[in-house]
Amino acid sequence: EKGTYPHYMLKEMDEQPAVVRKIIQAYENENGDLAIDQDILDAISNADRLYIIAAGTSYHAGLLGKQYFEKLAGIPVEVHISSEFGYNMPLLSEKPLFIFITQSGETADSRQVLVKIKEQGYPALTITNVPGSTLSREADYTLLLHAGPEIAVASTKAYVAQLAVLAVAAYVKGKSEGKNIDFDLKTELAIAANGIQSMIDLKDELEQIAEDYLKIARNAFFIGRNADFYVSLEGALKLKEISYIQAEGFAGGELKHGTIALIEDGTPVFALVTQEQVALNIRGNVKEVVARGANACIISMEGLEEEGDRLIIPKVHPILTPLVSVIPLQLISYYAALHRRCDVDKPRNLAKSVTVE
Ligand code: F6R
Repeated sequence: EKGTYPHYMLKEMDEQPAVVRKIIQAYENENGDLAIDQDILDAISNADRLYIIAAGTSYHAGLLGKQYFEKLAGIPVEVHISSEFGYNMPLLSEKPLFIFITQSGETADSRQVLVKIKEQGYPALTITNVPGSTLSREADYTLLLHAGPEIAVASTKAYVAQLAVLAVAAYVKGKSEGKNIDFDLKTELAIAANGIQSMIDLKDELEQIAEDYLKIARNAFFIGRNADFYVSLEGALKLKEISYIQAEGFAGGELKHGTIALIEDGTPVFALVTQEQVALNIRGNVKEVVARGANACIISMEGLEEEGDRLIIPKVHPILTPLVSVIPLQLISYYAALHRRCDVDKPRNLAKSVTVE
């Protein structure tokens, strides 16, 4: 029930700190350490490569999941859009493990891949919010998101939960192999949960940003590098699906290869600056678009901020910045949709679970 909330989406965004805390608890063993089932750990150990298969927002989470498994556990990962995978299957490694990321567990595009790879005898793990869902039942293993029901069509808390669970799985796997991991993920996730809360507490400011940048916008760009690029893709998807403003996420360095031609006087460009090693480069890209008239909204992380940045997100561990930086993008999209009197919870042409291919 949405109770006193005007929209499920707002309620679900508000729940995000609690969802991260719930995941910490759900994946804690009796010693208080993060853990996943031994059979899942074994399945990952037996694989020489992970194939992440997902659609939409879940695909965007998968792109970050690849970074987690490669950086923390040293396992090579490919990420594929489910609807493309069936007829465009890459050459598989000798011992693949398929990981399906799906909030609903019912997405037909993802299921057809699962059916196909099961026919070929490959193992599958589903990461889902819905126990007993089709993709959970038909896979060999399941990791649950523990996000509680997500009713709004636009996925918010499930995305954050997907990132947290992917990080836990990669971290536990890396630790079990004695990889050199110099931080405590439980502590860092708890810090991220607080960071998420501090963004949610800035609703008035985020509504103002939506007003200042998107009130009359026909289109909008989201740019970032590294992890910020993947969050930009998600920010753009949120904005277009609920406000119908045409929006695109781009890798900062890729802009000059064509897309920058679209920048005009007043074009809104949201730039994320949370990754230290590319902070200067992305600021260079911001200068390029501003020189062509863009109305740039810089969202940076504490420690990397500069004068003129519109929003500063609190410092969190570099691999967890997406959990926090996506929050302002969700809320800005929500307010942009409200300002345009869009049906936030049930955008036109969209269904919560897409059960046709
Ligand atoms: C966007 C959104 C969709 C879903 C996609 C996959 O806000 O909700 O892009 O992420 O349809 O759905 P699941 O995760 O249920 O497989």
